[in-house]
Amino acid sequence: MKKSNVKVFEDPSKLQKWCRARRRAGAKIALVPTMGALHDGHLSLIRLAKRRGADEIVVSVFVNPTQFGPNEDYAKYPREEKADLAKCAAEGATAVFFPTPDNMYLKGHSVYVNEESLSKGLCGARRPGHFRGVCTVVAKLFNIVDPDIAVFGQKDYQQAQVIRRMVRDLNFGVRILVAPIVREPSGLARSSRNAYLSEGEREMALAISRGLKALPCKGGRGELPALRRSLEKAGLKVDYVECVDAETLEPGKLPKKGTCVLVAVYCGKTRLIDNRVV
Ligand code: PAJ
Repeated sequence: MKKSNVKVFEDPSKLQKWCRARRRAGAKIALVPTMGALHDGHLSLIRLAKRRGADEIVVSVFVNPTQFGPNEDYAKYPREEKADLAKCAAEGATAVFFPTPDNMYLKGHSVYVNEESLSKGLCGARRPGHFRGVCTVVAKLFNIVDPDIAVFGQKDYQQAQVIRRMVRDLNFGVRILVAPIVREPSGLARSSRNAYLSEGEREMALAISRGLKALPCKGGRGELPALRRSLEKAGLKVDYVECVDAETLEPGKLPKKGTCVLVAVYCGKTRLIDNRVV
């Protein structure tokens, strides 16, 4: 087996220095931000970076405390650094960044990035402070790595739109790519949080992807209520079922071309999200 020579960083300033040197040498740098417990959805982002001709692919693995609410799963979020490193190396990442909360957020950290429009609804409305934490950590990663491209997943549709807006409005010189949702053979969208699900809950969770797939998307007024009922019938607790403008995230649309239908449910105690761009 080929010995992997993926570089491992913990210190933000060391990674920053390395990235600077690589850029000076002419390398095209890609960043793939993650919270770890890597699965094929994450790995598809690395593959996309590779296809886009990145010479260096930096994967960050950081369970970012500032994007979790006080009653959320920060403490129990899966942490599998050794397996994550092996997966990154096997997929062709060239550097993996495992910062610690203390070196990402120095004592007295007091600067945050707030997106004030796209992050108002959907998950932003249910998870106060979530996108402030996401924008802040992603802005920090952009400043550390200064990548040419950064890859995100459509799985977190609102997040990708919020990041695009942040990049536009704060003049980050990075190109954002959004990769399609990777699903298990059953249709369930891959997620690190699927690890929380029991066998029975996994079965229940199939109603999400099935329901989205079955949507006629003909702009009918009954489509979303029917989707909501099918989720409830499967035993899921609906957090939201919404249809928004795919670009502006303006709410209250009917499912048809140019919109995105988004679902968030509780499956037992686990919060799951999925979406379909029409
Ligand atoms: P995390 O949930 O680990 O996801 C990291 C990236 O992988 C995100 O861009 C997400 O959309 C993408 N992703 C997750 N599951 C996917 C799937 N099934 N198919 C395609 N892409 C998928 O999102 C975060 O971490 C954090 O908020 C982060 C951006 C890293 C900031 O902390």
